[in-house]
Amino acid sequence: MSLPHSGGFTTRAVHTGRGFAGTTGAVMPPVFLTATFASGNPDGFDYTRSGNPNFRLLEQTVASLEGARHATAFASGVSAITAVVSTLRSGDRIVAEQNLYGCTYRLFERVFAKFGLDVTYADLAEPANWDEIRRRRPRLVWLESPTNPLLKVLDLAGLSAVASEVGATTVVDNTFASPYLQQPLALGATLSLAATTKYLNGHSDCLGAWWPRTIRCGTSRWYSPRKPWASSRGPSTPG
Ligand SMILES: Cc1ncc(COP(=O)(O)O)c(C=O)c1O
Repeated sequence: MSLPHSGGFTTRAVHTGRGFAGTTGAVMPPVFLTATFASGNPDGFDYTRSGNPNFRLLEQTVASLEGARHATAFASGVSAITAVVSTLRSGDRIVAEQNLYGCTYRLFERVFAKFGLDVTYADLAEPANWDEIRRRRPRLVWLESPTNPLLKVLDLAGLSAVASEVGATTVVDNTFASPYLQQPLALGATLSLAATTKYLNGHSDCLGAWWPRTIRCGTSRWYSPRKPWASSRGPSTPG
């Protein structure tokens, strides 16, 4: 499959990962409704939960739009958040912006707190509060910019620099800006999340999300390749 990382945003949104035509010449991707793949196939597919041409097409497109080498697509924003937070251990700390998407906050407080995750919240739009990161030395610094719902704008470059001083991973929920307006990785963040329901799949017909990084996990991805297929139409629509 093709991987254009050059050209403008709209060119990459329309053309990245579109080398699926094979002998048919199809200009739009088919839905690959298969659970398993024949062993030794040249694209390295094995089992749809861990990889399928429809996941791969969406992942290559969004990796290109985010300026990343790889992306991992998920069934929803919340499933992508769950996958990343699940990499932590009991006792690990997170410092989070205090104005977060409500379900992210509920996941932290009602699900992960039970497993010993220690999350503190601070107004990170105020640089005077960045010392909380230096003091707590967390594993993750969890940011949203603009935030949902208050639309606070954070200094992602400044915060990523402080996080890296203490060896923390900077996670940015980029849903509200979208990679069209903001590329967190270029500002120093480690991970950038986009839930597709807001802008990236503006058709309002399917949930989805990605992390522009390879995150291998056994859960949280789509069960049906129809969903990444539907989500792939979103980025090419503004293009
Ligand atoms: C900023 C933000 N992050 C994450 C999510 C979660 O995405 P999903 O609804 O796909 O789980 C949303 C959904 O509204 C959101 O607004």
